[in-house]
Parts: sequence; structure tokens; C-alpha cells
Amino acid sequence: MNNVNLKLISINIVIVLILLVGCTKGTNNIATDEVSDTIKIGVLIYRFDDQFISSVIDVIEQETEELNKISTKKIEISIVDGKNQQDIQVDQMKQFIKEDYDALAINLVDRSKASVVINEAKQANIPVVFFNREPVQVDMARWDQIYYVGTKGEQSGLIQGEIAGEYWFDHPEADRNGDGIMQYVLIEGQPGHQDVIQRSQYSVKALQDMGIEVEELVKDTANWQRLEAQDVMSDWLDYFGDDIEMILSNNDAMALGAIDAMRAHDSRLIPVVGIDGIQLAREALKKGEIIGTVFNDNIGQGKMVMNIAYYLAQDLDPTLFIDDIEKGTYYWVDYHKVID
Ligand code: BGC
Ligand code: CA
Repeated sequence: MNNVNLKLISINIVIVLILLVGCTKGTNNIATDEVSDTIKIGVLIYRFDDQFISSVIDVIEQETEELNKISTKKIEISIVDGKNQQDIQVDQMKQFIKEDYDALAINLVDRSKASVVINEAKQANIPVVFFNREPVQVDMARWDQIYYVGTKGEQSGLIQGEIAGEYWFDHPEADRNGDGIMQYVLIEGQPGHQDVIQRSQYSVKALQDMGIEVEELVKDTANWQRLEAQDVMSDWLDYFGDDIEMILSNNDAMALGAIDAMRAHDSRLIPVVGIDGIQLAREALKKGEIIGTVFNDNIGQGKMVMNIAYYLAQDLDPTLFIDDIEKGTYYWVDYHKVID
């Protein structure tokens, strides 16, 4: 972030210089108007009751405060809940357009419907930074005023598999039936989400790459949600009972749901690995309820979403201020292993 801050400072110096020059040319009024100007940024969230996403929202709010300390223009953000319905989100977007917002940060409900959103934005000439739910490349290519901040699902899957594999090597008793094969179950996020396929595929691949033989007993979606995961896991405990040797969960909220199910069944705690590193999962890790998680950097993502939106809202090209924007469009944030 240092780079960004430095660049922010330099852009502010440039703006101050322009204003000073403006004054000497006798355009004092215009200069004063500029200083009191407000930037409006609309933040559209797929649903508020997603635990990881709410940790990103916190960062977006904090970063807005930080930017307001150094920005010559006042930044106002408005954050809305799409309630998991794409139609609601499109209406919210139209409202922001009507109210002359300067830029939008969008966490799509349905990433396969990005074209509708992009066409609206393009028509109104309001730049967009998408995050967490990635539009397909054909859609990203529809306009040059759209950006994406996200992570590589593959990386999180590989780290998750590594955590499960290392645990397996350190705990021979984890092979409960002693057949040398890891019998696992897989709890998946919302179908169609880019992270789901990648995380599921690469966590298993990491195990195999470590030379561990694996057998999938069952997999199912719990839509990223804790309660749904509790239901799914509860059925599996009834059906497979002691045969389950490892639980791989596409996120932490669902890993916590699996623990709820084990507690309700008075079952032994089967090893579970999550992804996200949310506060509740870190507490569960301290208590020994999960064996690890993969930090999905909400801070890096939230900050970058706001910084890109901030430049876009002022008709500035973000790639001039922020390094590592791939193909002038994508900003990727790294995952990190969390085991203590
Ligand atoms: C997170 C999930 C979250 C989902 C929402 C994923 O990257 O890991 O916890 O529910 O994004 O889109
Ligand atoms: Ca086994």
C-alpha cells in the first residue's frame, strides 16, 4: 500500500499546484468549488449476511475514512444489499446512475449476468470496479472503464490441500480405518462462483501431489452459508459416521457449520480445513476445532477496491497510480496459510 499512498500524496500535490495556478490566473471561484467538491461512490454487495463479505465491507468503510484524510475532495460512499437477487442489484445500480454517482464498486449477485450491468454502466459512462465475483473475460472486454479486484481460487485450493496433507502426515491416527487412503467429504460454495470449482479441484490436487491417496465420499453445496453446511454435514454424519477422515470446506463459514453439526451429533471432531481466515475461524483454530484455514485477504481487497474506485470517480487512470494492475484491468491479491 505504500506505493499507493506515495502516489496519492503526489497526485494531491499536483492537484494543489493546479489549484494554485488557477488562483493566480484569477479563477479563484472555480478553485474553491473544486476543493469543496464531493465524490460519490456506490458500493453494491451481493448479500450483507455473508461473513467474509462483511469483513470486506468493514475495510471499505475504514479505507474511505483514510482516503478522506488526504483527499482534496470529500468522498461519500453508499453501500447497498442486493439480498442475493440480481434484479434488486440492477435496480440499485440504476438508482445510483440516476443520482449521478461517480463510480461504482460491484460485488455481483450473479457473475454470469455481468453483461447487463456493464452495458448500463457504459451507457451512463460510470466506471466500475468489480470485486470477489469475477465476470467472465468476454464481459470484462466490453469496456475499458471496468476493473476487477480478486484472488486466484487455485492458490487457495492448493494451500488448503497442503494444510490437510501436512496434518495427515503428522497424525497417522487420522487414517481411521488404516487403509492408507484419506476418505474426505467436500462442502462447496455457491455453484457457478469462480472460487468453487478452483478450490475443490486444487485442494484435492495438492493432496495427490503430496503422494496421498484420496477417496471422495461425497460432496455437496451449502452456498457459502454456515446453517446450510450444518444441515449437509448432519446428513453425512448420519450416513457415513466414522468413515469420514477429513472435511474440506470451500470457506470458513461452512467449516464452522460442519463443527456445529458434529457438536449437535456428539460426534468426535473430524479434522476440518476452511478458507477465508475470518475472526470466528481463527478462534476455532485456537480452540483446536479446525486444523487450519487460508487467509483470503479482506484488507488487501477492500483497500484496493476503494483506491481504484477513488481514481475512477475522478476520471483518473488507476494504472498510473497503482502498480501491478494486470492487463490494465485485474488486481490480484494473494492468499496465505493460517495454521496457528
Ligand atoms: C469467500 C466466501 C464468500 C464468497 C462470496 C469467497 O471468496 O471465500 O466466504 O462467501 O467469496 O462471494
Ligand atoms: Ca482411510
